[in-house]
Parts: sequence; C-alpha cells; structure tokens
Amino acid sequence: MLSDTFTIADQPKFFGRRKGRTIHKAKSVLLEKFLPRLRIEKDKPLQMNKLFAADIKKIYLEIGFGSGDHLAGQAGRHPEIGFIGAEVFQNGIANLLSLLTGIKEGKNLPEQITLLPGRRDNIRIFDDDIRLLFSRLPDASVDRIFLLFPDPWPKKRHASRRFVNQDNLRELARILKKGGILRIATDHPVYKTWTLRQMHTCPDFRWTATCGRDWKQEPADWIKTKYQQKALSEGRRPVFLDYERL
Ligand SMILES: C[S@@+](CC[C@H](N)C(=O)[O-])C[C@H]1O[C@@H](n2cnc3c(N)ncnc32)[C@H](O)[C@@H]1O
Repeated sequence: MLSDTFTIADQPKFFGRRKGRTIHKAKSVLLEKFLPRLRIEKDKPLQMNKLFAADIKKIYLEIGFGSGDHLAGQAGRHPEIGFIGAEVFQNGIANLLSLLTGIKEGKNLPEQITLLPGRRDNIRIFDDDIRLLFSRLPDASVDRIFLLFPDPWPKKRHASRRFVNQDNLRELARILKKGGILRIATDHPVYKTWTLRQMHTCPDFRWTATCGRDWKQEPADWIKTKYQQKALSEGRRPVFLDYERL
C-alpha cells in the first residue's frame, strides 16, 4: 500500500552534502520566499494530477539535479511537460531558483518574485532525498527519469551508498511508465561498470544502445550539466546510458 507520510524512523541515511559554502542574500531569499511555491511538501499527500496545469500530461523526473542547469534547460524546452526535480544540496536548489527567476544579486530584490517572462510554471522541487518521495509516487506515473552523474562512491567499502542499486531500480521501474526511458550518465569508470552490471541484472529495463556511438556521445536532446563540465575539464569522458522500461 502507498503511504502518504513517513516518520523520521523510516528515513534512509543520506551520505552527501546538504549545505556547502555560504548562500548569499539573493539565493537565501529565493530559498525562503520562492521555494515554497514550487516545493513538494514532505508531509502532505501528493496529488499527481494537481501538481501541474491540467494540460500537462507527461511528467519527467530528475534525481540529484545539482545546480539545475539540465532541469531548467529541459523544462524551458518542454513547456508541455511537468518536471519533478529532487535535490538535497541547498546551494544547488538555490542556483536552480536563480536560473528560473533570473535573480542573482542581493540588491533591489523585487517585492514579488516570479518566474522569468516566458517561463512556464512546470517545475516542482522535492528538496530532500528522493527515496523519501518514492512511496508517494504512484505506479507508472512518470514518463522519463534522469539520473545524471550520481555520486560515484568509487571506494569498494562505499558501494552500498551508490544510488544505482537493486532497491532503487525496483522503485524506478515501478514509477516509470512502460516504454519510458531511464537515462543514467556517469564519468567514473567504476560507476560505469557498476551501473552496467546492476542494470544487466534488472529484468525491468532494456539498454537501448546498439553501437558505441549511442552511449559515448551526448544524446541529441542533451543539456550539459555542471558536474559534466568539471569532468570534461579534468579529462574524464562521460557515458550516457539510456534504458527502456519493459
Ligand atoms: C555528483 S552530483 C551531480 C549533480 C548534477 N546532476 C550534475 O550533473 O551536475 C550528484 C547530486 O545528486 C544529489 N543526490 C545524491 N543522492 C540523492 C538523493 N537520494 N536524492 C536527491 N538528490 C541526491 C547530490 O546532492 C548531488 O548534488
């Protein structure tokens, strides 16, 4: 049975960072005043059909959106799609809000904070560990999932922290519609091998690649992420793995 709420005792352990360097004035204001408008509340029932305007029929989910460049970019390109973004890192969430509103500076902040002109209200933010949202997402409710450059946790003793694991894949398979795509990108050789193995043993997904180019080159609809740019500048070549939900 799906439950609408959870208790502290149910919380899975999160090993990443929740806060980084100081969040400057404008971004703190965005977190305080604008995030509540887009936030998926943790302790309220989730009504999927009320999250977005009635004409939005498809939902894409981005897990660990980091600074939000990909999420903001995809949502801008696809006003007809509703996007759920999950991120724990406060500085990243603040950056996404800055991209959506155009507010970067602390001076002359407007009385009313709004989305940039021309931007549709098609992003909702879960500002915590996505695993806390899983039980509230109905079966086959999402059309596409992006998991871009998940923390690699390359040391063997940290392998249990890797997001791609059979428990999470079961949840992703459950919420993804048949024929929907789960896209995983990574620049880390350990995580690449790990992901290929984990996905291979998961009966719910089929790798769509038919040749090297399909996974070594950016997909046509790709938008570069901050982490990817860092990887490229340090000489690491990412791979892009698309899996179809069977
Ligand atoms: C290596 S960063 C990549 C960020 C972004 N996707 C990019 O490519 O620039 C991984 C991000 O995933 C977030 N993350 C890790 N586990 C998560 C979880 N269970 N739920 C939500 N976000 C998560 C982290 O906070 C971090 O910002």
